[in-house]
Amino acid sequence: MDLSTTYMGIELPNPLVGGPSPISDHVDASRRLEDAGASALVMHSLFMEQILREQQALADLDAHSHSNAEASSYLAEPTDFALGPEEYLEQVTRLKSALSIPVIGSLNGTHSGRWTRYARLIEEAGADGLELNVYYVPLSGDEGPMEVEQRYLDILESVKAQVTIPVAMKLPHFFSAPVHMMKRLDAAGADALVLFNPLYQPELDIEQLEVRPERPLSDPGSMKQRVLWLAAAFEKVSCSLAITGGVHTPTDLIKSMMAGADIAQMTSALLIHGPDYAIKMLTGVREWMAEFEYESIRQMRGSMSLARTPDPEAYERANYLKSLNTWHPGSALR
Ligand SMILES: Cc1cc2nc3c(=O)[nH]c(=O)nc-3n(C[C@H](O)[C@H](O)[C@H](O)COP(=O)(O)O)c2cc1C
Repeated sequence: MDLSTTYMGIELPNPLVGGPSPISDHVDASRRLEDAGASALVMHSLFMEQILREQQALADLDAHSHSNAEASSYLAEPTDFALGPEEYLEQVTRLKSALSIPVIGSLNGTHSGRWTRYARLIEEAGADGLELNVYYVPLSGDEGPMEVEQRYLDILESVKAQVTIPVAMKLPHFFSAPVHMMKRLDAAGADALVLFNPLYQPELDIEQLEVRPERPLSDPGSMKQRVLWLAAAFEKVSCSLAITGGVHTPTDLIKSMMAGADIAQMTSALLIHGPDYAIKMLTGVREWMAEFEYESIRQMRGSMSLARTPDPEAYERANYLKSLNTWHPGSALR
């Protein structure tokens, strides 16, 4: 049975990839994930804010070089991040020497600028690829869709200009024309598109009047929106496609492949069950393929996409109308 796949030009023995999470901050946990069969690892992100903070600290250090105590206390400020920018680069090198699977770095920021030079530094530290996460939530209402889209294209362009390793873009779900945007990113040189970054929705504490962060872990069953847009994008873009979000079981992974993904990134399920859960996932995938007589992942890839399904209407308004009409006032009472 052949589980192999190709992701942004990299040959992988199977489509189960560890998604960005604190796992990559720890070499032991990363090695356990590799031993359990994951075919690649995407690292926890290095955030634009961290890089800008460090740049600011260095500028302050320069300006106040007469007052070392003050400057060094600023540099020593505790941060919310496990690894600072320099430690991040060291971690890339450490993971590369400890693992034999490809290691994909991750940069996370909202606009292009000097901070994106870390793309080159991550490549120089040994990463096999880079994932770009533009977590930009256009809440102000001042920017139109073209400007929001342009941000993604600008960041991609500035990063692609600095590296030779393949670059994936992790996307939000809220473009008004997602497939059109995917085609633009593909044409602009993205080597892969990763669907979708979860939109962390705040929890309102109505007693303390505070906006609190949401629990970041996904629930099983939360992948359907990704499946729809993977199915729509399959064969419309030439770059690779990845799913991130809601892949918790072997059948989730198989559905993602049938919709059109080349790989499935997993984060929450690996954090909940531990890195060894990858063994269970891959065993489950093999058992399902044996039962339904599939010889390879490539054979199933895109088989249920919009381009290949015999019933494309099912992805469009037909099932929408059907689902609205299946509920009757008496349904809840039965
Ligand atoms: C604890 C935690 C940390 C994460 N850190 C990052 C990160 O640094 N960069 C990133 O792009 N995504 C990050 N994510 C998002 C995941 O990579 C993934 O896209 C998301 O959790 C949906 O996938 P899942 O359903 O498999 O968890 C994080 C998620 C969790 C739960």
